[in-house]
Amino acid sequence: MVEHVSVRAETLHRALPQSATIEPGGILSIGGCRVDDLAVRFGTPLYIYDVETIRRTMRACVGALAGGGALYYAGKAYLAPWLMRLATEEHVGLDVCSGIELEMALRSGFPASRIRLHGNYKSVEVLRLAVNADIGAVVVDSLPELRGMIEVCSHERRRVRIFLRLNPGISAHTHRYLQTGIVDSKFGLSMVSSDAYEAVGLAQAHQPQLELIGYHAHIGTQILDLDPYSLLLQRLKSFAVAMQEAHGFWPQQISPGGGIGITYTHEVAPNPAMWLKMLRQELEAFPAPAPHISMELGRAISGPAGVALYRVGSIKEAPGHRTYVAIDGGMADNIRPALYEARYAVVAANRMDMAACQTVTIAGPYCESGDIVASDVATPTLIAGDLLALPAAGAYCLPMSSNYNGALRPAVVTVDQGQARLVQRRQTLSDLLAVDID
Ligand code: LLP
Repeated sequence: MVEHVSVRAETLHRALPQSATIEPGGILSIGGCRVDDLAVRFGTPLYIYDVETIRRTMRACVGALAGGGALYYAGKAYLAPWLMRLATEEHVGLDVCSGIELEMALRSGFPASRIRLHGNYKSVEVLRLAVNADIGAVVVDSLPELRGMIEVCSHERRRVRIFLRLNPGISAHTHRYLQTGIVDSKFGLSMVSSDAYEAVGLAQAHQPQLELIGYHAHIGTQILDLDPYSLLLQRLKSFAVAMQEAHGFWPQQISPGGGIGITYTHEVAPNPAMWLKMLRQELEAFPAPAPHISMELGRAISGPAGVALYRVGSIKEAPGHRTYVAIDGGMADNIRPALYEARYAVVAANRMDMAACQTVTIAGPYCESGDIVASDVATPTLIAGDLLALPAAGAYCLPMSSNYNGALRPAVVTVDQGQARLVQRRQTLSDLLAVDID
């Protein structure tokens, strides 16, 4: 029997945006908008972004770095014109990791001087685009890329600001697919071999073409422990001191990348602004003049603001095993459970006033046994037509979505003080067919 409980704030999952409330009748509301209304207006699956959550995180992080650093938003987590506009308003720069992301930013009018370009392989065309757009900095990932950059600058008669991305050989405590700072990685100039040292010398020898600003390293993502960052900063300090002796170069800036983790289910996530403040203090202890810190955060900015909304379809038993609740989205809009064994909380968005009374597995509709959104989660009794919300779906879901099985990419709305705005319409069959040539 379903146990009814009073509507209290504790019944809200803590991974939901702070603006989440429960409306009469047990309906989840985000940013002042009832999700049952949003589902009817815009359909499901629907991605809902709470603007205030993003704005508040950006402000706190920018504040934590004021006067000694800069915040960038890692667009790979989720990139859209409205979010770029918000970043501009909040004095947040943008990290892009491909030529197309760079073009998207430039076409949206994002100030070029506040864009940084990353990526372990950038083609000559992409380097040329970055150089000619005079973007804030290119983060150079390898010796061949550095040589290519020098050639492009000479050819285009341009000078470019660069960071050198170093591979510090640090293993962060996260899923192995999410580690990027280990020695056996495709990312960065190795500090174990001579690559990183050689790159500093090469960059210094080509000052007409290159302005070396500093060092960058990124050790992974969904990191919940500050220690690997402290270790990283120690390594970068030793490297900087050695390079000053060898090449007379001292960095104006150091970037420990991104990677700050968030709450998906029950993790205790750091407060990103507090971590930025602590990392900034560690950099202030570098030999003078202490380099400024810059960080590019993706997940910590857009992740907690996003909620995916699905509708329950069929429910069936696998006798003796589990109850499968099929919903109208899954691995096509969120590959993370299948790819990283990522776990999500599930919120019965139209039954917020009911206690959990069963354990079920939430399955997507796609032809893969691995299309499981959440295994063994506690929910109230569910029936077809109910709404399920997945908190913390704002990062790395939509950008990694696919058209598998003909799935149409979901619509996206922003919610802010009771106003819902469609910022990306649902894909249509015509969108899919438009690229086919018969
Ligand atoms: N900087 C660099 C150089 C990066 O490669 C990344 C993420 C970031 C910053 C931003 O990291 P964040 O603050 O978002 O943790 N698809 C995976 C995540 C891949 C992250 C790739 N790089 C996932 O769904 O968990």
